[in-house]
This record gives sequence, C-alpha cells and structure tokens, in this order.
Amino acid sequence: MAFSKIIGSAALVVALAAPALAQDNPTVAARQGQFKLYGHNIAVLGGMAQGRMDYDAAMAQTAADNLFHLTRHDQSRLWPEGTDSSSIMETRAKAEIWENLDDFTAKFVALQEASVALQAAAGNGLDALRPAVGAVGASCGACHEAYREES
Ligand code: HEC
Repeated sequence: MAFSKIIGSAALVVALAAPALAQDNPTVAARQGQFKLYGHNIAVLGGMAQGRMDYDAAMAQTAADNLFHLTRHDQSRLWPEGTDSSSIMETRAKAEIWENLDDFTAKFVALQEASVALQAAAGNGLDALRPAVGAVGASCGACHEAYREES
C-alpha cells in the first residue's frame, strides 16, 4: 500500500515537472535568441535592399558588422542531441540536423562566408548592398528549407 503511494506520487512529480522543463530549455532558448538577433539585423539590411527603408551607409555597416560577429558565435554547445522537434516541444529544429551534421555545418559556413562579403559591401552603396544581402538571405533560406519545421 505504502509502496504504491510512493510510485503514485513519483509519477505525479514527473507529470508536473515535464511541462515545466519543456518550456524552459535554456540551450534551445539561446540558439533561438541568436537567430532572433540575426533577424533583427537582417531586417535593417533587407529593408534597405528592398526599398522599404532609405539606404544609410553607417546603419547598414553596423548591421552587417553585427551579423558578421553573430555568425562567429561558436555553435558547439547550442545543438545537443535530443533537442530536435520530435523529442521536445519548444523547437523547430528538425531531427535531420543530427543525421546530416556535416551538411548542417556546411550551411552554417555558407552563412559565415556570405556575412563576410556583406560586411565588405554594406557601406559601399545600395548597388553593392543588394546582391550581398540577397546572398545572405539565400544562405538563411537554404538551411531553413532543409532543417527547420514550417511552424
Ligand atoms: C545552418 C542552419 C541555419 C542557418 C544558416 C540559419 N538558420 Fe535560422 N534557424 C535554423 C534552425 C534549425 C532554426 C530553429 C531553431 C529552434 O527552434 O531550435 C532557426 C530559427 C530561426 C528563427 C526563429 C527563432 C525563434 O524565435 O525561435 C529566425 C528568426 C531565424 N532562424 C532567422 C535566420 C536568419 C535571418 C538567418 C540568416 C542570416 C538564419 N536564420 C540562418 C537554422 C538556420
């Protein structure tokens, strides 16, 4: 009798703890935070490239400098196994990432390289900015297409 009570209360604790853990994975929150900051800077660069904002060389350069540094952030602790969308609720990272780590890494490197080119071009006028932003956007999209859930 006492034994089954213990089992029962242990199961209850697990049931109560699980949703709290699912909503609060600091590693997943950190990697989503880095992507939010990518988006924060791309919004300025894309806005200028697409004519939704006036071109401003200093502002474009700052956003491109930010993106350059953000894409240098070491990824090695941000993608632990078991943090894919079939294992936990709060991520859109597909399990295919961990089956194709070389390709996933190559897509990150492609973003880093495009960010270097964007940093060199951003302050040199709208005609230089446009294709460089396009290349960065394509590198974001290529990875999302393969490795991010739609929603
Ligand atoms: C190498 C792959 C890869 C590249 C390159 C990449 N992303 Fe992502 N991005 C992902 C994955 C995977 C997720 C889902 C992360 C998660 O939910 O844990 C994501 C999520 C996001 C999110 C949603 C973050 C949130 O609030 O949950 C934004 C915004 C985003 N990316 C923007 C960008 C932008 C902008 C770029 C290019 C400058 C970019 N990403 C490049 C893989 C990538």
